[in-house]
Amino acid sequence: MVVSARIHEPVVGAGVAGGGRTRPDTEAVVAPTDALEASLAVTTGRPLGIVMLGPPGAGKGTQAARLAARYAIANVATGDLLRAQVAEGTTLGRRARGYMHRGDLVPDELVTAMVLQRLGRPDCADGFLLDGYPRTVGQAEALDAWLSERCACIVAVLHFRITEDELLRRLQRRADEQHRDDDTVETIRYRLRVFASETQPLVEHYAKRGTLLTVDAIGTTEEVTARVVTGLTGRANGHQVARARRAT
Ligand code: AP5
Repeated sequence: MVVSARIHEPVVGAGVAGGGRTRPDTEAVVAPTDALEASLAVTTGRPLGIVMLGPPGAGKGTQAARLAARYAIANVATGDLLRAQVAEGTTLGRRARGYMHRGDLVPDELVTAMVLQRLGRPDCADGFLLDGYPRTVGQAEALDAWLSERCACIVAVLHFRITEDELLRRLQRRADEQHRDDDTVETIRYRLRVFASETQPLVEHYAKRGTLLTVDAIGTTEEVTARVVTGLTGRANGHQVARARRAT
């Protein structure tokens, strides 16, 4: 089964088979050669935002770390932010803990307040990558409103397309290695259902806006990164062509 309701555009890297590897060493990621950040910032004149969208285990966090290092933009990972709150025992952490343990989404208002506060920090001024937000239509609408107030925009929503078998393999492996609280077999299956009902509709939401970039997430981490970079570079080039046409 492919964990994706509909594919709205060609999948970057579709058909490339391959094995897998564990979370990459982000220090090994080479500097960008395509000047994506510069080209998009010049094109839009506004902060550059990238959203990672995909089911649990699709590799969002793995790729987010690599892309944030590559493009030198802030990596805002909601799962990590929430786990830090839980570990610190803050009010937010105490409220979020039960939801996360069950594999449920933390209520929109809590997560949105946390994310928008984080996006207001100086390191997000030129660009940011959102790993794990938005996950509901309500969150997407809150983000849209925040962006439009600041004349900022999302340049690409990376939609990671993967089979359920591969997700289960990856999360089972992580459960054996890292013992994450919500990586039990029952909770993984529940999180996949939550993704299908709450987050999958965002594929349609962003496809309508023309920002969706579907990426084949099966293969090594390097192969997946290469597909993402190819897709983003193509998008940057498209923006530049459109801008040049408007200027003539
Ligand atoms: P990884 O990169 O960790 O995949 P992932 O897609 O980030 O998977 P997660 O399980 O972390 O995502 P999630 O969305 O369920 O959790 P999150 O922390 O955001 O890769 C998975 C494994 O595969 C790793 O071991 C990795 O090494 C390996 N791997 C990666 N790429 C590979 C490759 N190419 N080949 C082979 N192996 C590979 O959220 C947790 C909880 O927080 C949620 O359940 C929810 O309760 C709460 N929460 C977070 N965000 C929100 C929100 N916006 N709204 C409400 N609640 C939220």
